[in-house]
Amino acid sequence: MKTFAVALAIAAAAGAQIQTPAPAQSRAATPAGNAENGKKLFASDGCYECHGREAQGSTATGPRLAPRPMAFAALSRYVRQPTGQMPPYTSKVVSDADLADIYAFLQSRPEPPPLETIQLLK
Ligand code: HEC
Repeated sequence: MKTFAVALAIAAAAGAQIQTPAPAQSRAATPAGNAENGKKLFASDGCYECHGREAQGSTATGPRLAPRPMAFAALSRYVRQPTGQMPPYTSKVVSDADLADIYAFLQSRPEPPPLETIQLLK
């Protein structure tokens, strides 16, 4: 991430245009996070209270966030400046590094089982 930021700064200073295709750019903008630590932060920062311990979401409190979260940049933007009922988290409360760890945790959640395989729903 730092390398990317430095590269951006250098490119910006040189007045250069960065022309990376969108998918490559969003990959580059996804920082490497620590999923283990992200799991702890997801609990201690209170995300779980509305989004569920597995970020599975609930119709009553907050949407599903995992296992395929939105792009990191969009997630980061939303957490900092939510537009609905979610409370905002500034970088003083949840640092960018913490958010990267939370993101890694979200990505690491297993896919839910297919509905047909859940006995209770039969
Ligand atoms: C008090 C309940 C609450 C807490 C705590 C909370 N959220 Fe949310 N979150 C929501 C609700 C409700 C929404 C749906 C949009 C809205 O109303 O803001 C949402 C939406 C989101 C979205 C956008 C999802 C989408 O598909 O548009 C993201 C990303 C998100 N939350 C991440 C987080 C993270 C990360 C944390 C912890 C740092 C967190 N939330 C803590 C209630 C909460």
